[in-house]
Amino acid sequence: MPHESFVPGSCYFYYPRLMCIVGVRDDAKRTCNFAPVAWTTPLSSDPPLFGICLSPSTYSHQLVLKTGEFTVNFLSHEHAPLAETLGKLSGRDTDKVKALTLKLEPGEALSTPSLAVAYASAECLLLERHHVGDQTLLVGEVQRIRTSPDAFDADGVLRLDRLNPLLYLGSSRYATTAAASLDRPASGVKSS
Ligand SMILES: Cc1cc2nc3c(=O)[nH]c(=O)nc-3n(C[C@H](O)[C@H](O)[C@H](O)COP(=O)(O)O)c2cc1C
Repeated sequence: MPHESFVPGSCYFYYPRLMCIVGVRDDAKRTCNFAPVAWTTPLSSDPPLFGICLSPSTYSHQLVLKTGEFTVNFLSHEHAPLAETLGKLSGRDTDKVKALTLKLEPGEALSTPSLAVAYASAECLLLERHHVGDQTLLVGEVQRIRTSPDAFDADGVLRLDRLNPLLYLGSSRYATTAAASLDRPASGVKSS
């Protein structure tokens, strides 16, 4: 079968991606705001840098620039409805913590809380921002990582036999991994 051809924007070739929920303090309203952000990436291990791409139209964008910090929170697959709902609301007009009765964990290194339900969260201090097309790449230095007990093994690798991470496929569709992906492939490509 011949390959198909798409114009940019009509095919989500960059998914699946690990779903991330970004948390930011909203000091003026004495609350915290959470928004799903699929476009995130680790950027450096030393220093530990993590990047999130936020549209300047989001309320979260405004809040990160104000507070200079954010948390990134990772959920298991069962929480897909929460991610979807958080993405339909804006902290501009809804206190999502109150409306969705979200339980928070206070920050340890910084003062931005994490989502209690997350299997892993990281507190990030905003270091840089870059305009990239219609997004802003916000680069945070990871200050502290919080994980659920037994979510990661001694090498710091996610236990897929215990946890089903939430992946995003695009177009409001979600997925997760299967335990088969625990296999460590042999290096090199074998010729048949
Ligand atoms: C699954 C999913 C992934 C999303 N990924 C991003 C993203 O990478 N960057 C972004 O700016 N908005 C993204 N959004 C949209 C924002 O989450 C959405 O506009 C949200 O309402 C913003 O909330 P806020 O105004 O409270 O910040 C995503 C939404 C969903 C549901």
